[in-house]
Amino acid sequence: MSFLKSLENRRSIYALGKNVADGEKAIEAIKEAVRLSPSAFNSQTSRVLFVTADAQEKLWGEIVPDAVHASMQAQGVPEEAFAGTKAKLDGFKAAYGTALFFEDQDVVKDLQEQFALYADNFPVWSEQATGIVSVNAWVALAELGLGANLQHYNPLIDAEVAKTFNIPANWKLRGQLVFGSVEEGAGDRKPMIEDDARFVSAK
Ligand SMILES: Cc1cc2nc3c(=O)[nH]c(=O)nc-3n(C[C@H](O)[C@H](O)[C@H](O)COP(=O)(O)O)c2cc1C
Repeated sequence: MSFLKSLENRRSIYALGKNVADGEKAIEAIKEAVRLSPSAFNSQTSRVLFVTADAQEKLWGEIVPDAVHASMQAQGVPEEAFAGTKAKLDGFKAAYGTALFFEDQDVVKDLQEQFALYADNFPVWSEQATGIVSVNAWVALAELGLGANLQHYNPLIDAEVAKTFNIPANWKLRGQLVFGSVEEGAGDRKPMIEDDARFVSAK
């Protein structure tokens, strides 16, 4: 499959299931996508926690709903509003697994100390790194015929995720890539802005 075709096949797919013939192959594809992704100064700041099976149930059936529910209550959101959120989270729970992307803040801090001239850039480059690995992993899954969507329940869930899955304090959670079998496609591609608005050329 050509690279651009693979990019085209990457969509936000929300109807995901556990009908994944080879889950280890999917996880290995994510790992390889992360290994092959570039990072500033080759800093390799990205870290990944893979959750499947019981851990997937725990994440989307307990950790995220509990954190979101508590936050909604604290903001005085009417109780009924949680039902819709819960239904959405149940959809993520139904997926095969989740790759949780973190950035290692110790590496960022070390680089800031080592290269003072670029100190302000390292946190920005770390944010770029997480975007690069996440999308590359997402495309790699699409190449395998698997679906995924990218969620951001951080920082609400950070403490509980760290406690439950023994995550080091220097790993900062940046995103959650939920993946699984495609139970229903993404539908039509979302509208794109005009080329004139984003591309210019000079010769
Ligand atoms: C940095 C980033 C953050 C995103 N955050 C979320 C999110 O929190 N929840 C979600 O459902 N989709 C999220 N998305 C998915 C985008 O909404 C989606 O990629 C975009 O609308 C284009 O649709 P497509 O993925 O089907 O091509 C995110 C995408 C990116 C690149």
